[in-house]
Amino acid sequence: MQIGIPRETLAGETRVAATPKTVTQLMKLGHSVVVEAGAGTKSSYPDAEYAAAGAAIVDAAGAWSSPVVAKINAPTTAEIALLADGATLISQIAPGRSPELLAELGKRKITVLAMDAVPRISRAQALDVLSSMANIAGYRAVIEAANEFGSLFTGQVTAAGKVPPATVFISGAGVAGLAAIGTAKSLGAIVRATDLRAEVAEQVESMGGQFVAVQAEAQKSSDGYAKEASADYADAAARMYAEQCKEVDIIITTALIPGRPAPRLITADMVATMKPGSVIVDMAASNGGNVEGSVADQLVVTANGVKIIGYTDLAGRLPTQASQLYGTNVVNLFKLLTPEKDGAVSLDLDDVVLRGMTVQKDGESMWPPPPVQVSAAPSTAVATVPAEDPAVVAAREVALAKTRTQRRITSSVIAAALVVLAVTFSPASFVGAFTVFALAVVVGFYVISGVSHSLHTPLMAQTNAISGIILVGALLQLGSTNVAVLVMSFIAATIASINIFGGFLVSYRMLGMFRKES
Ligand code: NAI
Repeated sequence: MQIGIPRETLAGETRVAATPKTVTQLMKLGHSVVVEAGAGTKSSYPDAEYAAAGAAIVDAAGAWSSPVVAKINAPTTAEIALLADGATLISQIAPGRSPELLAELGKRKITVLAMDAVPRISRAQALDVLSSMANIAGYRAVIEAANEFGSLFTGQVTAAGKVPPATVFISGAGVAGLAAIGTAKSLGAIVRATDLRAEVAEQVESMGGQFVAVQAEAQKSSDGYAKEASADYADAAARMYAEQCKEVDIIITTALIPGRPAPRLITADMVATMKPGSVIVDMAASNGGNVEGSVADQLVVTANGVKIIGYTDLAGRLPTQASQLYGTNVVNLFKLLTPEKDGAVSLDLDDVVLRGMTVQKDGESMWPPPPVQVSAAPSTAVATVPAEDPAVVAAREVALAKTRTQRRITSSVIAAALVVLAVTFSPASFVGAFTVFALAVVVGFYVISGVSHSLHTPLMAQTNAISGIILVGALLQLGSTNVAVLVMSFIAATIASINIFGGFLVSYRMLGMFRKES
């Protein structure tokens, strides 16, 4: 089937729904692709690259008249008119918030799939544009904050004095929030984060952030989305936000409850207590804002010198990457639509993912879809495995402990007997050397196991030095007439050489990683 990729006409849009790489992937599914001239220019994908990938470069009418049209932003009325009867439109639609657009689309005998209505289930993640765009936007929010912040994010000790690290507070640890935590952490900041859903604390910590809990009963989500906060929670949260505002340098708010205006988390009074030069990025600015005083698409500077960023095009500020991810989401949708990879599109409405995003089919409204029961929380079914009798478990534990102790005693007795035999039947010089060896093993074990990982490289240097001494000792024995001594020297020389030359090889390879290609 022919897929048309039109140029986005929304003011300020920089992205495109397919890249040369995704064109190739679409063609592997048996489709042909036509791209409107200049569609990828703003995201650094020139027409020539699309042509090289196998797409035909056409005018707007050529792209819009295709049987399937894939784009980023909801179409205008004029664009809807360009679609052919029976065509399929794939786009972000925001169907829950766009009744007028749905009415307009309903006038045409077309099928509409909303890329932003993918159910939040694991199988659908590969085509979830809200997630892929929020991920990029979370990253960009930190970069925008760093751009406006007058100090470093990372702490440093310099000849000119100590630089403290910036403290970043992130509200909402969903897709955008977690991306922001990871980015701020990698820039060296101290990162704190909070969320209405208590279960995300672990994810926050795994990204390197500290979870700031609200001292009230938190939520457990059953579908990956938050439900509205209780009044009790909101009061406790307000106290927590007031405290954080006085302490931190950067705030990034990403709190969202689907289908509702953004929850107001930070008031103007709280902003007034922040240090001058602090920066807030309100990612929810287009949806009413999490922060009082934020204005969509603007940077506002408050009377006390706090900068509030309300940009709503954060993903579009990284157009090359955003287009690539959006395009990959589109390819993954086509993998579902073209199971036979034969270029024939079939919309299987029994598939919950496809049903969830189908807004209308051949002109007939399909919105809203039936609810999808999903669970982001661990399944309770796991807990229904029949529990073992505690008495049986305890008896098994005792038996296991007994066997372990018996084994330990037996091996200690054998080791002691071997030592006594060796001491009794060996010459005095061997006993002396053996005692030194045994003590060296014990001391070495405790010294090395106490060394922190960060010091393992100097430790390796030291063991190389010891290996050097062993090598010299082994070489000195070369003149010996005793075969046993010669064999031992050979083994010692071989093992020490592996350590020394292996060390050199590893160091050489590690240094290679930092060498610039000439
Ligand atoms: P998400 O649904 O994955 O995460 C939202 C998080 O907010 C959830 O973890 C939820 O539990 C939490 N939350 C809800 N109410 C809260 C409250 N009262 N206190 C604390 N946490 C609360 O959403 P996602 O995809 O991460 O998007 C986040 C926001 O970023 C949305 O508002 C979205 O519209 C916006 N966005 C903005 C962009 C821009 O350019 N400005 C681009 C992409 C997304």
